[in-house]
Amino acid sequence: MRRDATPRRYLMCAPAHFKVTYSINPWMDPTKPVDLPLALAQWEDLRDRYLSLGHTVETLEPEPGLPDMVFAANGALVVDGRVLGARFAYPERTAEAEIHLDWFRANGFTDIHEPSHVNEGEGDFAVTASWILAGRGFRSSPLSHDEAQEFFGRPVIGLDLVDPRYYHLDTALCVLDGDEIMYHPPAFSPGSQAVLRRLFPDALLVDAPDAAAFGLNSVSDGRHVLLPQAATGLLAPLRERGFEPIPMDLGELLKGGGSVKCCTQELRPAPEPPA
Ligand code: ARG
Repeated sequence: MRRDATPRRYLMCAPAHFKVTYSINPWMDPTKPVDLPLALAQWEDLRDRYLSLGHTVETLEPEPGLPDMVFAANGALVVDGRVLGARFAYPERTAEAEIHLDWFRANGFTDIHEPSHVNEGEGDFAVTASWILAGRGFRSSPLSHDEAQEFFGRPVIGLDLVDPRYYHLDTALCVLDGDEIMYHPPAFSPGSQAVLRRLFPDALLVDAPDAAAFGLNSVSDGRHVLLPQAATGLLAPLRERGFEPIPMDLGELLKGGGSVKCCTQELRPAPEPPA
């Protein structure tokens, strides 16, 4: 099957002030040192790779005192050019939400919804052709799902996350193209696994080693799949499906509990008006 990439627009934030000083997910160990120059170099590699694939990368100004800002995916959900702001679960990240909103206001986005309920942006929302998939259980409030559905006018499918290592939806599930996804079934409750089987009978199922290597924290443009390099078990199945996997080393950022996808917020444009 021939796969076509479509040009994307991403929002990223350099890890200029990245460190692990608190622990809000099981991957974060404040006693482990972080190599900041290496984290920056790994992030720059990711940004440059997007640019060389023809994508657009916008950047947020990193702020001292907000070490998790590099995980820009969490700051909002943008679909059809409309922006649902984030509201963080932990006080350590609260201030990031307003910084994202300011960026959108300054960059021509006018349809912006400031949320009433906790949601961690694209950390817990994934957009397929037909649905918005929405994680709950660790971070985003189930009430944010209705809020997203009402704002975007797209059906939102709530999914229960049950394994603390996969605390955000984007650590357990990845949209590859259209309504094609990959996911790690044990990260979800039995009922949510049944929902996923029903909606995505042909999904690529990801096993424990590749999930633990953050293999689901990947970004696809419809053809190229940028994925953490340790998730080696995904290379062959992705190629079999016609995708071109591109392994990336984001090892330093993994110490914060994030990888490729967490660093990347997609700015999905408004649909083209009919000609
Ligand atoms: N340390 C960050 C947190 O726990 C990592 C966020 C990762 N981002 C993501 N989209 N999963 O909030």
